[in-house]
Amino acid sequence: NKTIYILAIESSCDDTSAAVLLNKKVLSNVVATQKIHQEYGGVVPELASRAHQQNIVPVVHQALMRANIDKKLLSAIAFTRGPGLLGSLLVGTSFAKSLALGLQIPLVEVNHMQAHILAHFIDGQDYRGPSFPFLALTLSGGHTQIVLVKDYLKMEILGETLDDAVGEAFDKSAKILGLPYPGGPLIDIYAQLGNPKAFPFPKPRVAGLNFSFSGLKTSILYFVQKEVKANPNFVLENRNDICASIQHTIVRILMDKIKEAVKQTGVKHVAIGGGVSANSGIRAALKSAEKKYGWHVYLPKLEYCTDNAAMIGITGYFKFMQNQLTDQNISAKARYKI
Ligand code: KG4
Ligand code: ZN
Repeated sequence: NKTIYILAIESSCDDTSAAVLLNKKVLSNVVATQKIHQEYGGVVPELASRAHQQNIVPVVHQALMRANIDKKLLSAIAFTRGPGLLGSLLVGTSFAKSLALGLQIPLVEVNHMQAHILAHFIDGQDYRGPSFPFLALTLSGGHTQIVLVKDYLKMEILGETLDDAVGEAFDKSAKILGLPYPGGPLIDIYAQLGNPKAFPFPKPRVAGLNFSFSGLKTSILYFVQKEVKANPNFVLENRNDICASIQHTIVRILMDKIKEAVKQTGVKHVAIGGGVSANSGIRAALKSAEKKYGWHVYLPKLEYCTDNAAMIGITGYFKFMQNQLTDQNISAKARYKI
């Protein structure tokens, strides 16, 4: 049993994160969330890149301090190569490359979406990691995918969104309601106080295992505009019910597709990942499906749902163990398939 220390770096979107892992155990996981984007109602790529440049050194330093290990003990450096915002990815990629060069240790490039899935194998959660094969539903601000996971590094995309990601559906709906960015977590909070059947929104008709969320956003916009014309206080007076109805619709869309995926593949192990998997509605729906249909459901700890470097570290660990190392010629990749 080897002792592998991995330093992991994540900078694909608007969180700068660094983590240190000892094999599959997280020794530290530091996340600096960028507040600057709130004023703009969404992530501004150029500002994200600059904030990563400011944050990366202190965040890596903190991760090493909290793990209480010397840099010289590190076995490798793992970093997010993509997918994500190019300017943001370049900061983490360049930093990881230079540090690996300086310390003369191997580099391991990681796919961010693969990492959201492998986060399930981090030690210290309620379960020991899903057994293969399993279905992974990756729900984030940039992606919405159903993935058949055959092994740690063998994955196949069965379906994905044709337009907006589910996180965007949450955030754009929140924006229509005048909520600050990112609105997903706020919709979740208000939804728990409202009636999910108050306002029915249409479900898109998309064949197979693909998703579509842009129609939902449009129908929410038209609905709100129409109601506000009749009553300017409509949103204020009905905020909880509107949020509950939006969340209910999104959860139904997700559940229908995952049920279809289970039917098509016969695989009853279902794992979720990505920022939206923190949503209380989707977690509750999966828990009840587990009882009702005899599935095995895996819900990661919240800190491993939203963007974090620990998940990059665990993916780096599996790749390192399989000797999948990267050389210094590597560059960031904004569009990067699993
Ligand atoms: O995975 P993530 O942290 O970053 C990306 O890779 O995109 O996901 C961020 C997304 C945002 O859209 C945010 O609004 C959403 O996850 N989110 C939530 C919740 N927590 C985070 N959406 C709904 N309910 C939540 N509790
Ligand atoms: Zn993510």
